[in-house]
Amino acid sequence: MQDLDLPTSPLPGSLGSCSVPSMDSTSTLGTDVTPSKYKWALVTGCDHGLGTALVQELIRRNYHVIACRFHPEETVIDGIARENPYLVTVRLLDIASDQSVQSLKDSLSSLVPCIDLLINCAGILGDMESGPDDELNFPRMLDVLNVNALGTLRVTAALLPLVENSQDKTVLNISSEAGSIGDCERTGWFGYCMSKSANNMQGALIHNTLRKKGGQVIQMHPGHVATFMRGHLDTTAALTPEESASALLHTVLDQKLPVGDRPLYIDYAGHPLPF
Ligand SMILES: NC(=O)c1ccc[n+]([C@@H]2O[C@H](COP(=O)([O-])OP(=O)(O)OC[C@H]3O[C@@H](n4cnc5c(N)ncnc54)[C@H](OP(=O)(O)O)[C@@H]3O)[C@@H](O)[C@H]2O)c1
Repeated sequence: MQDLDLPTSPLPGSLGSCSVPSMDSTSTLGTDVTPSKYKWALVTGCDHGLGTALVQELIRRNYHVIACRFHPEETVIDGIARENPYLVTVRLLDIASDQSVQSLKDSLSSLVPCIDLLINCAGILGDMESGPDDELNFPRMLDVLNVNALGTLRVTAALLPLVENSQDKTVLNISSEAGSIGDCERTGWFGYCMSKSANNMQGALIHNTLRKKGGQVIQMHPGHVATFMRGHLDTTAALTPEESASALLHTVLDQKLPVGDRPLYIDYAGHPLPF
């Protein structure tokens, strides 16, 4: 990235404008991706897993990225930011907290002019074991709902003016096939499945505002990805985080997805899911 004709501050940009420097011919960007001309993205849940991989793929596409991590001791993303000082800035963010989201919003107001691509990736799993005949842990379910559903809305609502100020005005919510009521076959995972259905609904409500301003919300299932979401590396998964992130962004950024009256609910490869 040192070859690029970029200003020297980590996150250059002037308020009220999303105009950014054009790409220098010495760019090392590959030919299989659509270059961003230095657009702005913000990703939540970047401690590890899919969030980290999304940041790396966005760097490859020359986005300026605000990478939000949750845990103060999960510092992989800080190393990535050190290697890409012109493109990545790290922020601490707890999407379950009004105060934390407000602090993020305040800290961005003088730093970024807009957010072209807001990726709500942060999420938690909760209890996968209990069925209706078991003792259900409602406080735990509330935590899951507060992160996966309300947390996503908390972030989007706070940052919507920045999204609306951008060229692309795209909100990408990492939902899950588990949020599909039409395809529901499970007998448990109450908190997770309900929270992802609610995530889909808040995405539809935001889409109804954003589409009238030329933007859109996309609800996406990233596939079964080998992450530590279950508390250990899920070796049964079909995709690595890098494969999922690359496919997700290829679908969203390299293909002309239609903007309809309702948000798209698709998997990483662009296949539709039933709400
Ligand atoms: N893996 C899959 O197969 C799969 C399938 C469908 C959908 N998804 C979705 O994909 C997204 C990414 O999951 P992943 O598989 O990459 O798992 P992951 O590695 O556990 O990533 C989740 C991220 O969210 C962070 N997080 C948790 N609570 C948070 C909070 N209150 N505020 C901000 N960040 C918080 C986690 O931080 P810490 O871990 O440091 O606490 C972690 O960085 C999630 O929304 C998940 O539901 C995953």
